[in-house]
Amino acid sequence: GKGNHRHFMHKEIYEQPAVIGDTLSTFVNPATRTVALQDLPFDLAEVSRVTIVACGTSFHSALVAKYWFEKLARISVEVDIASEFRYRAAELPEGGLALFISQSGETADTLAALRYAKSQKQHVAVLVNQPESSMAREADVMLQTLCGPEIGVASTKAFTAQLAVLACFAIAVARARGKIDTQREAELATALAEVPSRIAEVLADEEAIEALGKSLIDARDVLYLGRGTSYPLALEGALKLKELSYIHAEGYAAGEMKHGPIALIDDQMPVIVVAPHDELFEKTASNVQEVLARGGKVIMMSDAAGIAAFPGKTLATIRLPDCDPFVAPILYSIPLQLLAYHTAVHKGTDVDQPRNLAKSVTVE
Ligand code: F6R
Repeated sequence: GKGNHRHFMHKEIYEQPAVIGDTLSTFVNPATRTVALQDLPFDLAEVSRVTIVACGTSFHSALVAKYWFEKLARISVEVDIASEFRYRAAELPEGGLALFISQSGETADTLAALRYAKSQKQHVAVLVNQPESSMAREADVMLQTLCGPEIGVASTKAFTAQLAVLACFAIAVARARGKIDTQREAELATALAEVPSRIAEVLADEEAIEALGKSLIDARDVLYLGRGTSYPLALEGALKLKELSYIHAEGYAAGEMKHGPIALIDDQMPVIVVAPHDELFEKTASNVQEVLARGGKVIMMSDAAGIAAFPGKTLATIRLPDCDPFVAPILYSIPLQLLAYHTAVHKGTDVDQPRNLAKSVTVE
């Protein structure tokens, strides 16, 4: 049941500290501050290329993973949506690693993409929440999120738990390839181990986010901006808002805004900016200035340092706890989920069962 929550989605948002803690406990050893995967039927050090394929929200976690794998493990990563990948005759060098991400393990396009990768002699790994699923059965390796059932049609806890596993996977590949030293691994293991309590801190800020959600209900369009790993977060925030509240929303790479969408900005346009104070912060901040100069209503998600460093005048800020930038995508997912949730609740839409959507898309 929903316990004392009004919707399954709300309950599942609040389950995140626990389910991410459970999921991480399979991979992170807090005593030795190391990260390890299960034994694999191939050598990670020999993998020359990684291909990650998924749909929807799971595709957004794949995009975050691309940044992590490239930066930490210095390996070439290609990411695609399954409905494109399966039909485009992708050239996959033998011995590559193909990873399929799916909460349900049953999404038709992702399963077809997996079968294609198998036919191209890839090592096939899946990251699923349902261990009894078609994808889990057909893969060489199964990685699992330990979320329990996700009832709300809009994915929340499965997404953040996918990110937690992918972070561990990236660290494991980095170590196999000799690209990370013991000290950095220890820092990252600690940062990951602290994620559940940091999420709990973000959840404690729900009231402020609820008020912001209420302020969005009459918006016609909402733009989400981010750079680096915050770019896929912008895509995910926009997807959550549109599917739950039926308000048109778009996620954009902050630096790409001046190549088109800036034409949309006027004083009616809410712009949500995902901007932890990381190495790209100054770049994002200058894009935000361009939005402000055109009257856009900026809602900025950042940490204390980012909020202090930002020179412009935002409509509102959502302050996130300090964290290693590596784990920021997991934390910044939470206010994006809550914002979409509360906008929808105030609009009166069916949060757990948005129109036209199905939890598991088993037809293409
Ligand atoms: C959006 C959402 C969908 C799913 C997509 C893939 O909130 O939940 O976009 O992420 O249908 O589903 P899985 O992960 O089961 O393959």
